[in-house]
Amino acid sequence: MSDTNYEKTLDIIFGRWKSQILYAGVTLGIFDCASSYAKSTADIAGELDLDDVLAYRLLRALSSLGFLKEHPDRREFSITPQGELLRKDNPQTLRGVTLLEEGPEHYAIWKHLPAMIKEGKQNAFMREFGYKIFEYRDRNPAYGEVFNQAMSSYSSIQTNWVLDALDKYDFSNIHDICDIGGGIGHLLGNLLIKYPHVSGTVLELKAVISNKKQLLASKLGVSERCSYIDGDMFTNGEIPFADAYIMKMILHDWSDEECVSILSNVYRSSPKHARLFIAEHVVPGPGEIHFSKLFDIHMMCVASGKERNIDEYSSLLQQSGWKYIQTLHSHQQSGLIDVIEGCKL
Ligand SMILES: C[S@@+](CC[C@H](N)C(=O)[O-])C[C@H]1O[C@@H](n2cnc3c(N)ncnc32)[C@H](O)[C@@H]1O
Repeated sequence: MSDTNYEKTLDIIFGRWKSQILYAGVTLGIFDCASSYAKSTADIAGELDLDDVLAYRLLRALSSLGFLKEHPDRREFSITPQGELLRKDNPQTLRGVTLLEEGPEHYAIWKHLPAMIKEGKQNAFMREFGYKIFEYRDRNPAYGEVFNQAMSSYSSIQTNWVLDALDKYDFSNIHDICDIGGGIGHLLGNLLIKYPHVSGTVLELKAVISNKKQLLASKLGVSERCSYIDGDMFTNGEIPFADAYIMKMILHDWSDEECVSILSNVYRSSPKHARLFIAEHVVPGPGEIHFSKLFDIHMMCVASGKERNIDEYSSLLQQSGWKYIQTLHSHQQSGLIDVIEGCKL
């Protein structure tokens, strides 16, 4: 084995150490306490009520990962641009993603991966907790809060990619848009900011939208054009009439049969001229290194879903009455999700 292969493999083996060190830093509030000027370990530990001997070791490890800078010989630390990404007040914060993906629930489910693959039965969330993820979330408000924060945290990056992918799209005939499973409204709110002639509706489960303080429409200044409907995307008659429908990170949560059921329901509820936009990680061909191939395993653990390639999305559309039109890509270099457009046959 070459040295590079050896190093790459070791880096993967110890990957979880890194993400757990980061998780500890985020959970303890290190990044909201640290500052661009150097602060002593004693001050940080004092403000956060931590043991300063063990806190020093965590701060040093976080510095080794590039999130903090350790100042020579003085046991002082300042935050780096990479560390800024974990602050609560950063508009593009990755704090929520860290808290969800390395938190106790998601940590616990991965151990079921080998058994699932042996037995051909996915959904480690069910194995570990006895509930599907959204039921578990709605029964556990603390997890629910972390889940919603994480969705907004993911959205703080993904929304830009979706807006970018749709940038050249002609919105002149779209006057209302429904974001199905739109969470607290990050994507829809930003679409409404960009297209002032459009109004919109977020269709979501009651548990997500009942906490009015969390909803983003008023914070984004679009509350007059944005409404929230408590509804179930699987249930006939609960999808509102709109010129266009968007679903971001929805279909990857569900099996093919469940996706056909959702898409058929949207088909039945929508006008003839309706357009459908599906924003997802799209799996590229063999040999191409892509995050979607890892996210797919995460989906195997958390739910009944999976990541799909274009042909698979096109087939789901076809099975539910829709016609595949095109796939729109973000031109931003880091854009990891695409937007698939469908129309009615
Ligand atoms: C992976 S999250 C994506 C949220 C949002 N679209 C985003 O990209 O941030 C999936 C969303 O689907 C919602 N959801 C799950 N089952 C649903 C149902 N039956 N009807 C409506 N929404 C549902 C969940 O509450 C959750 O907010």
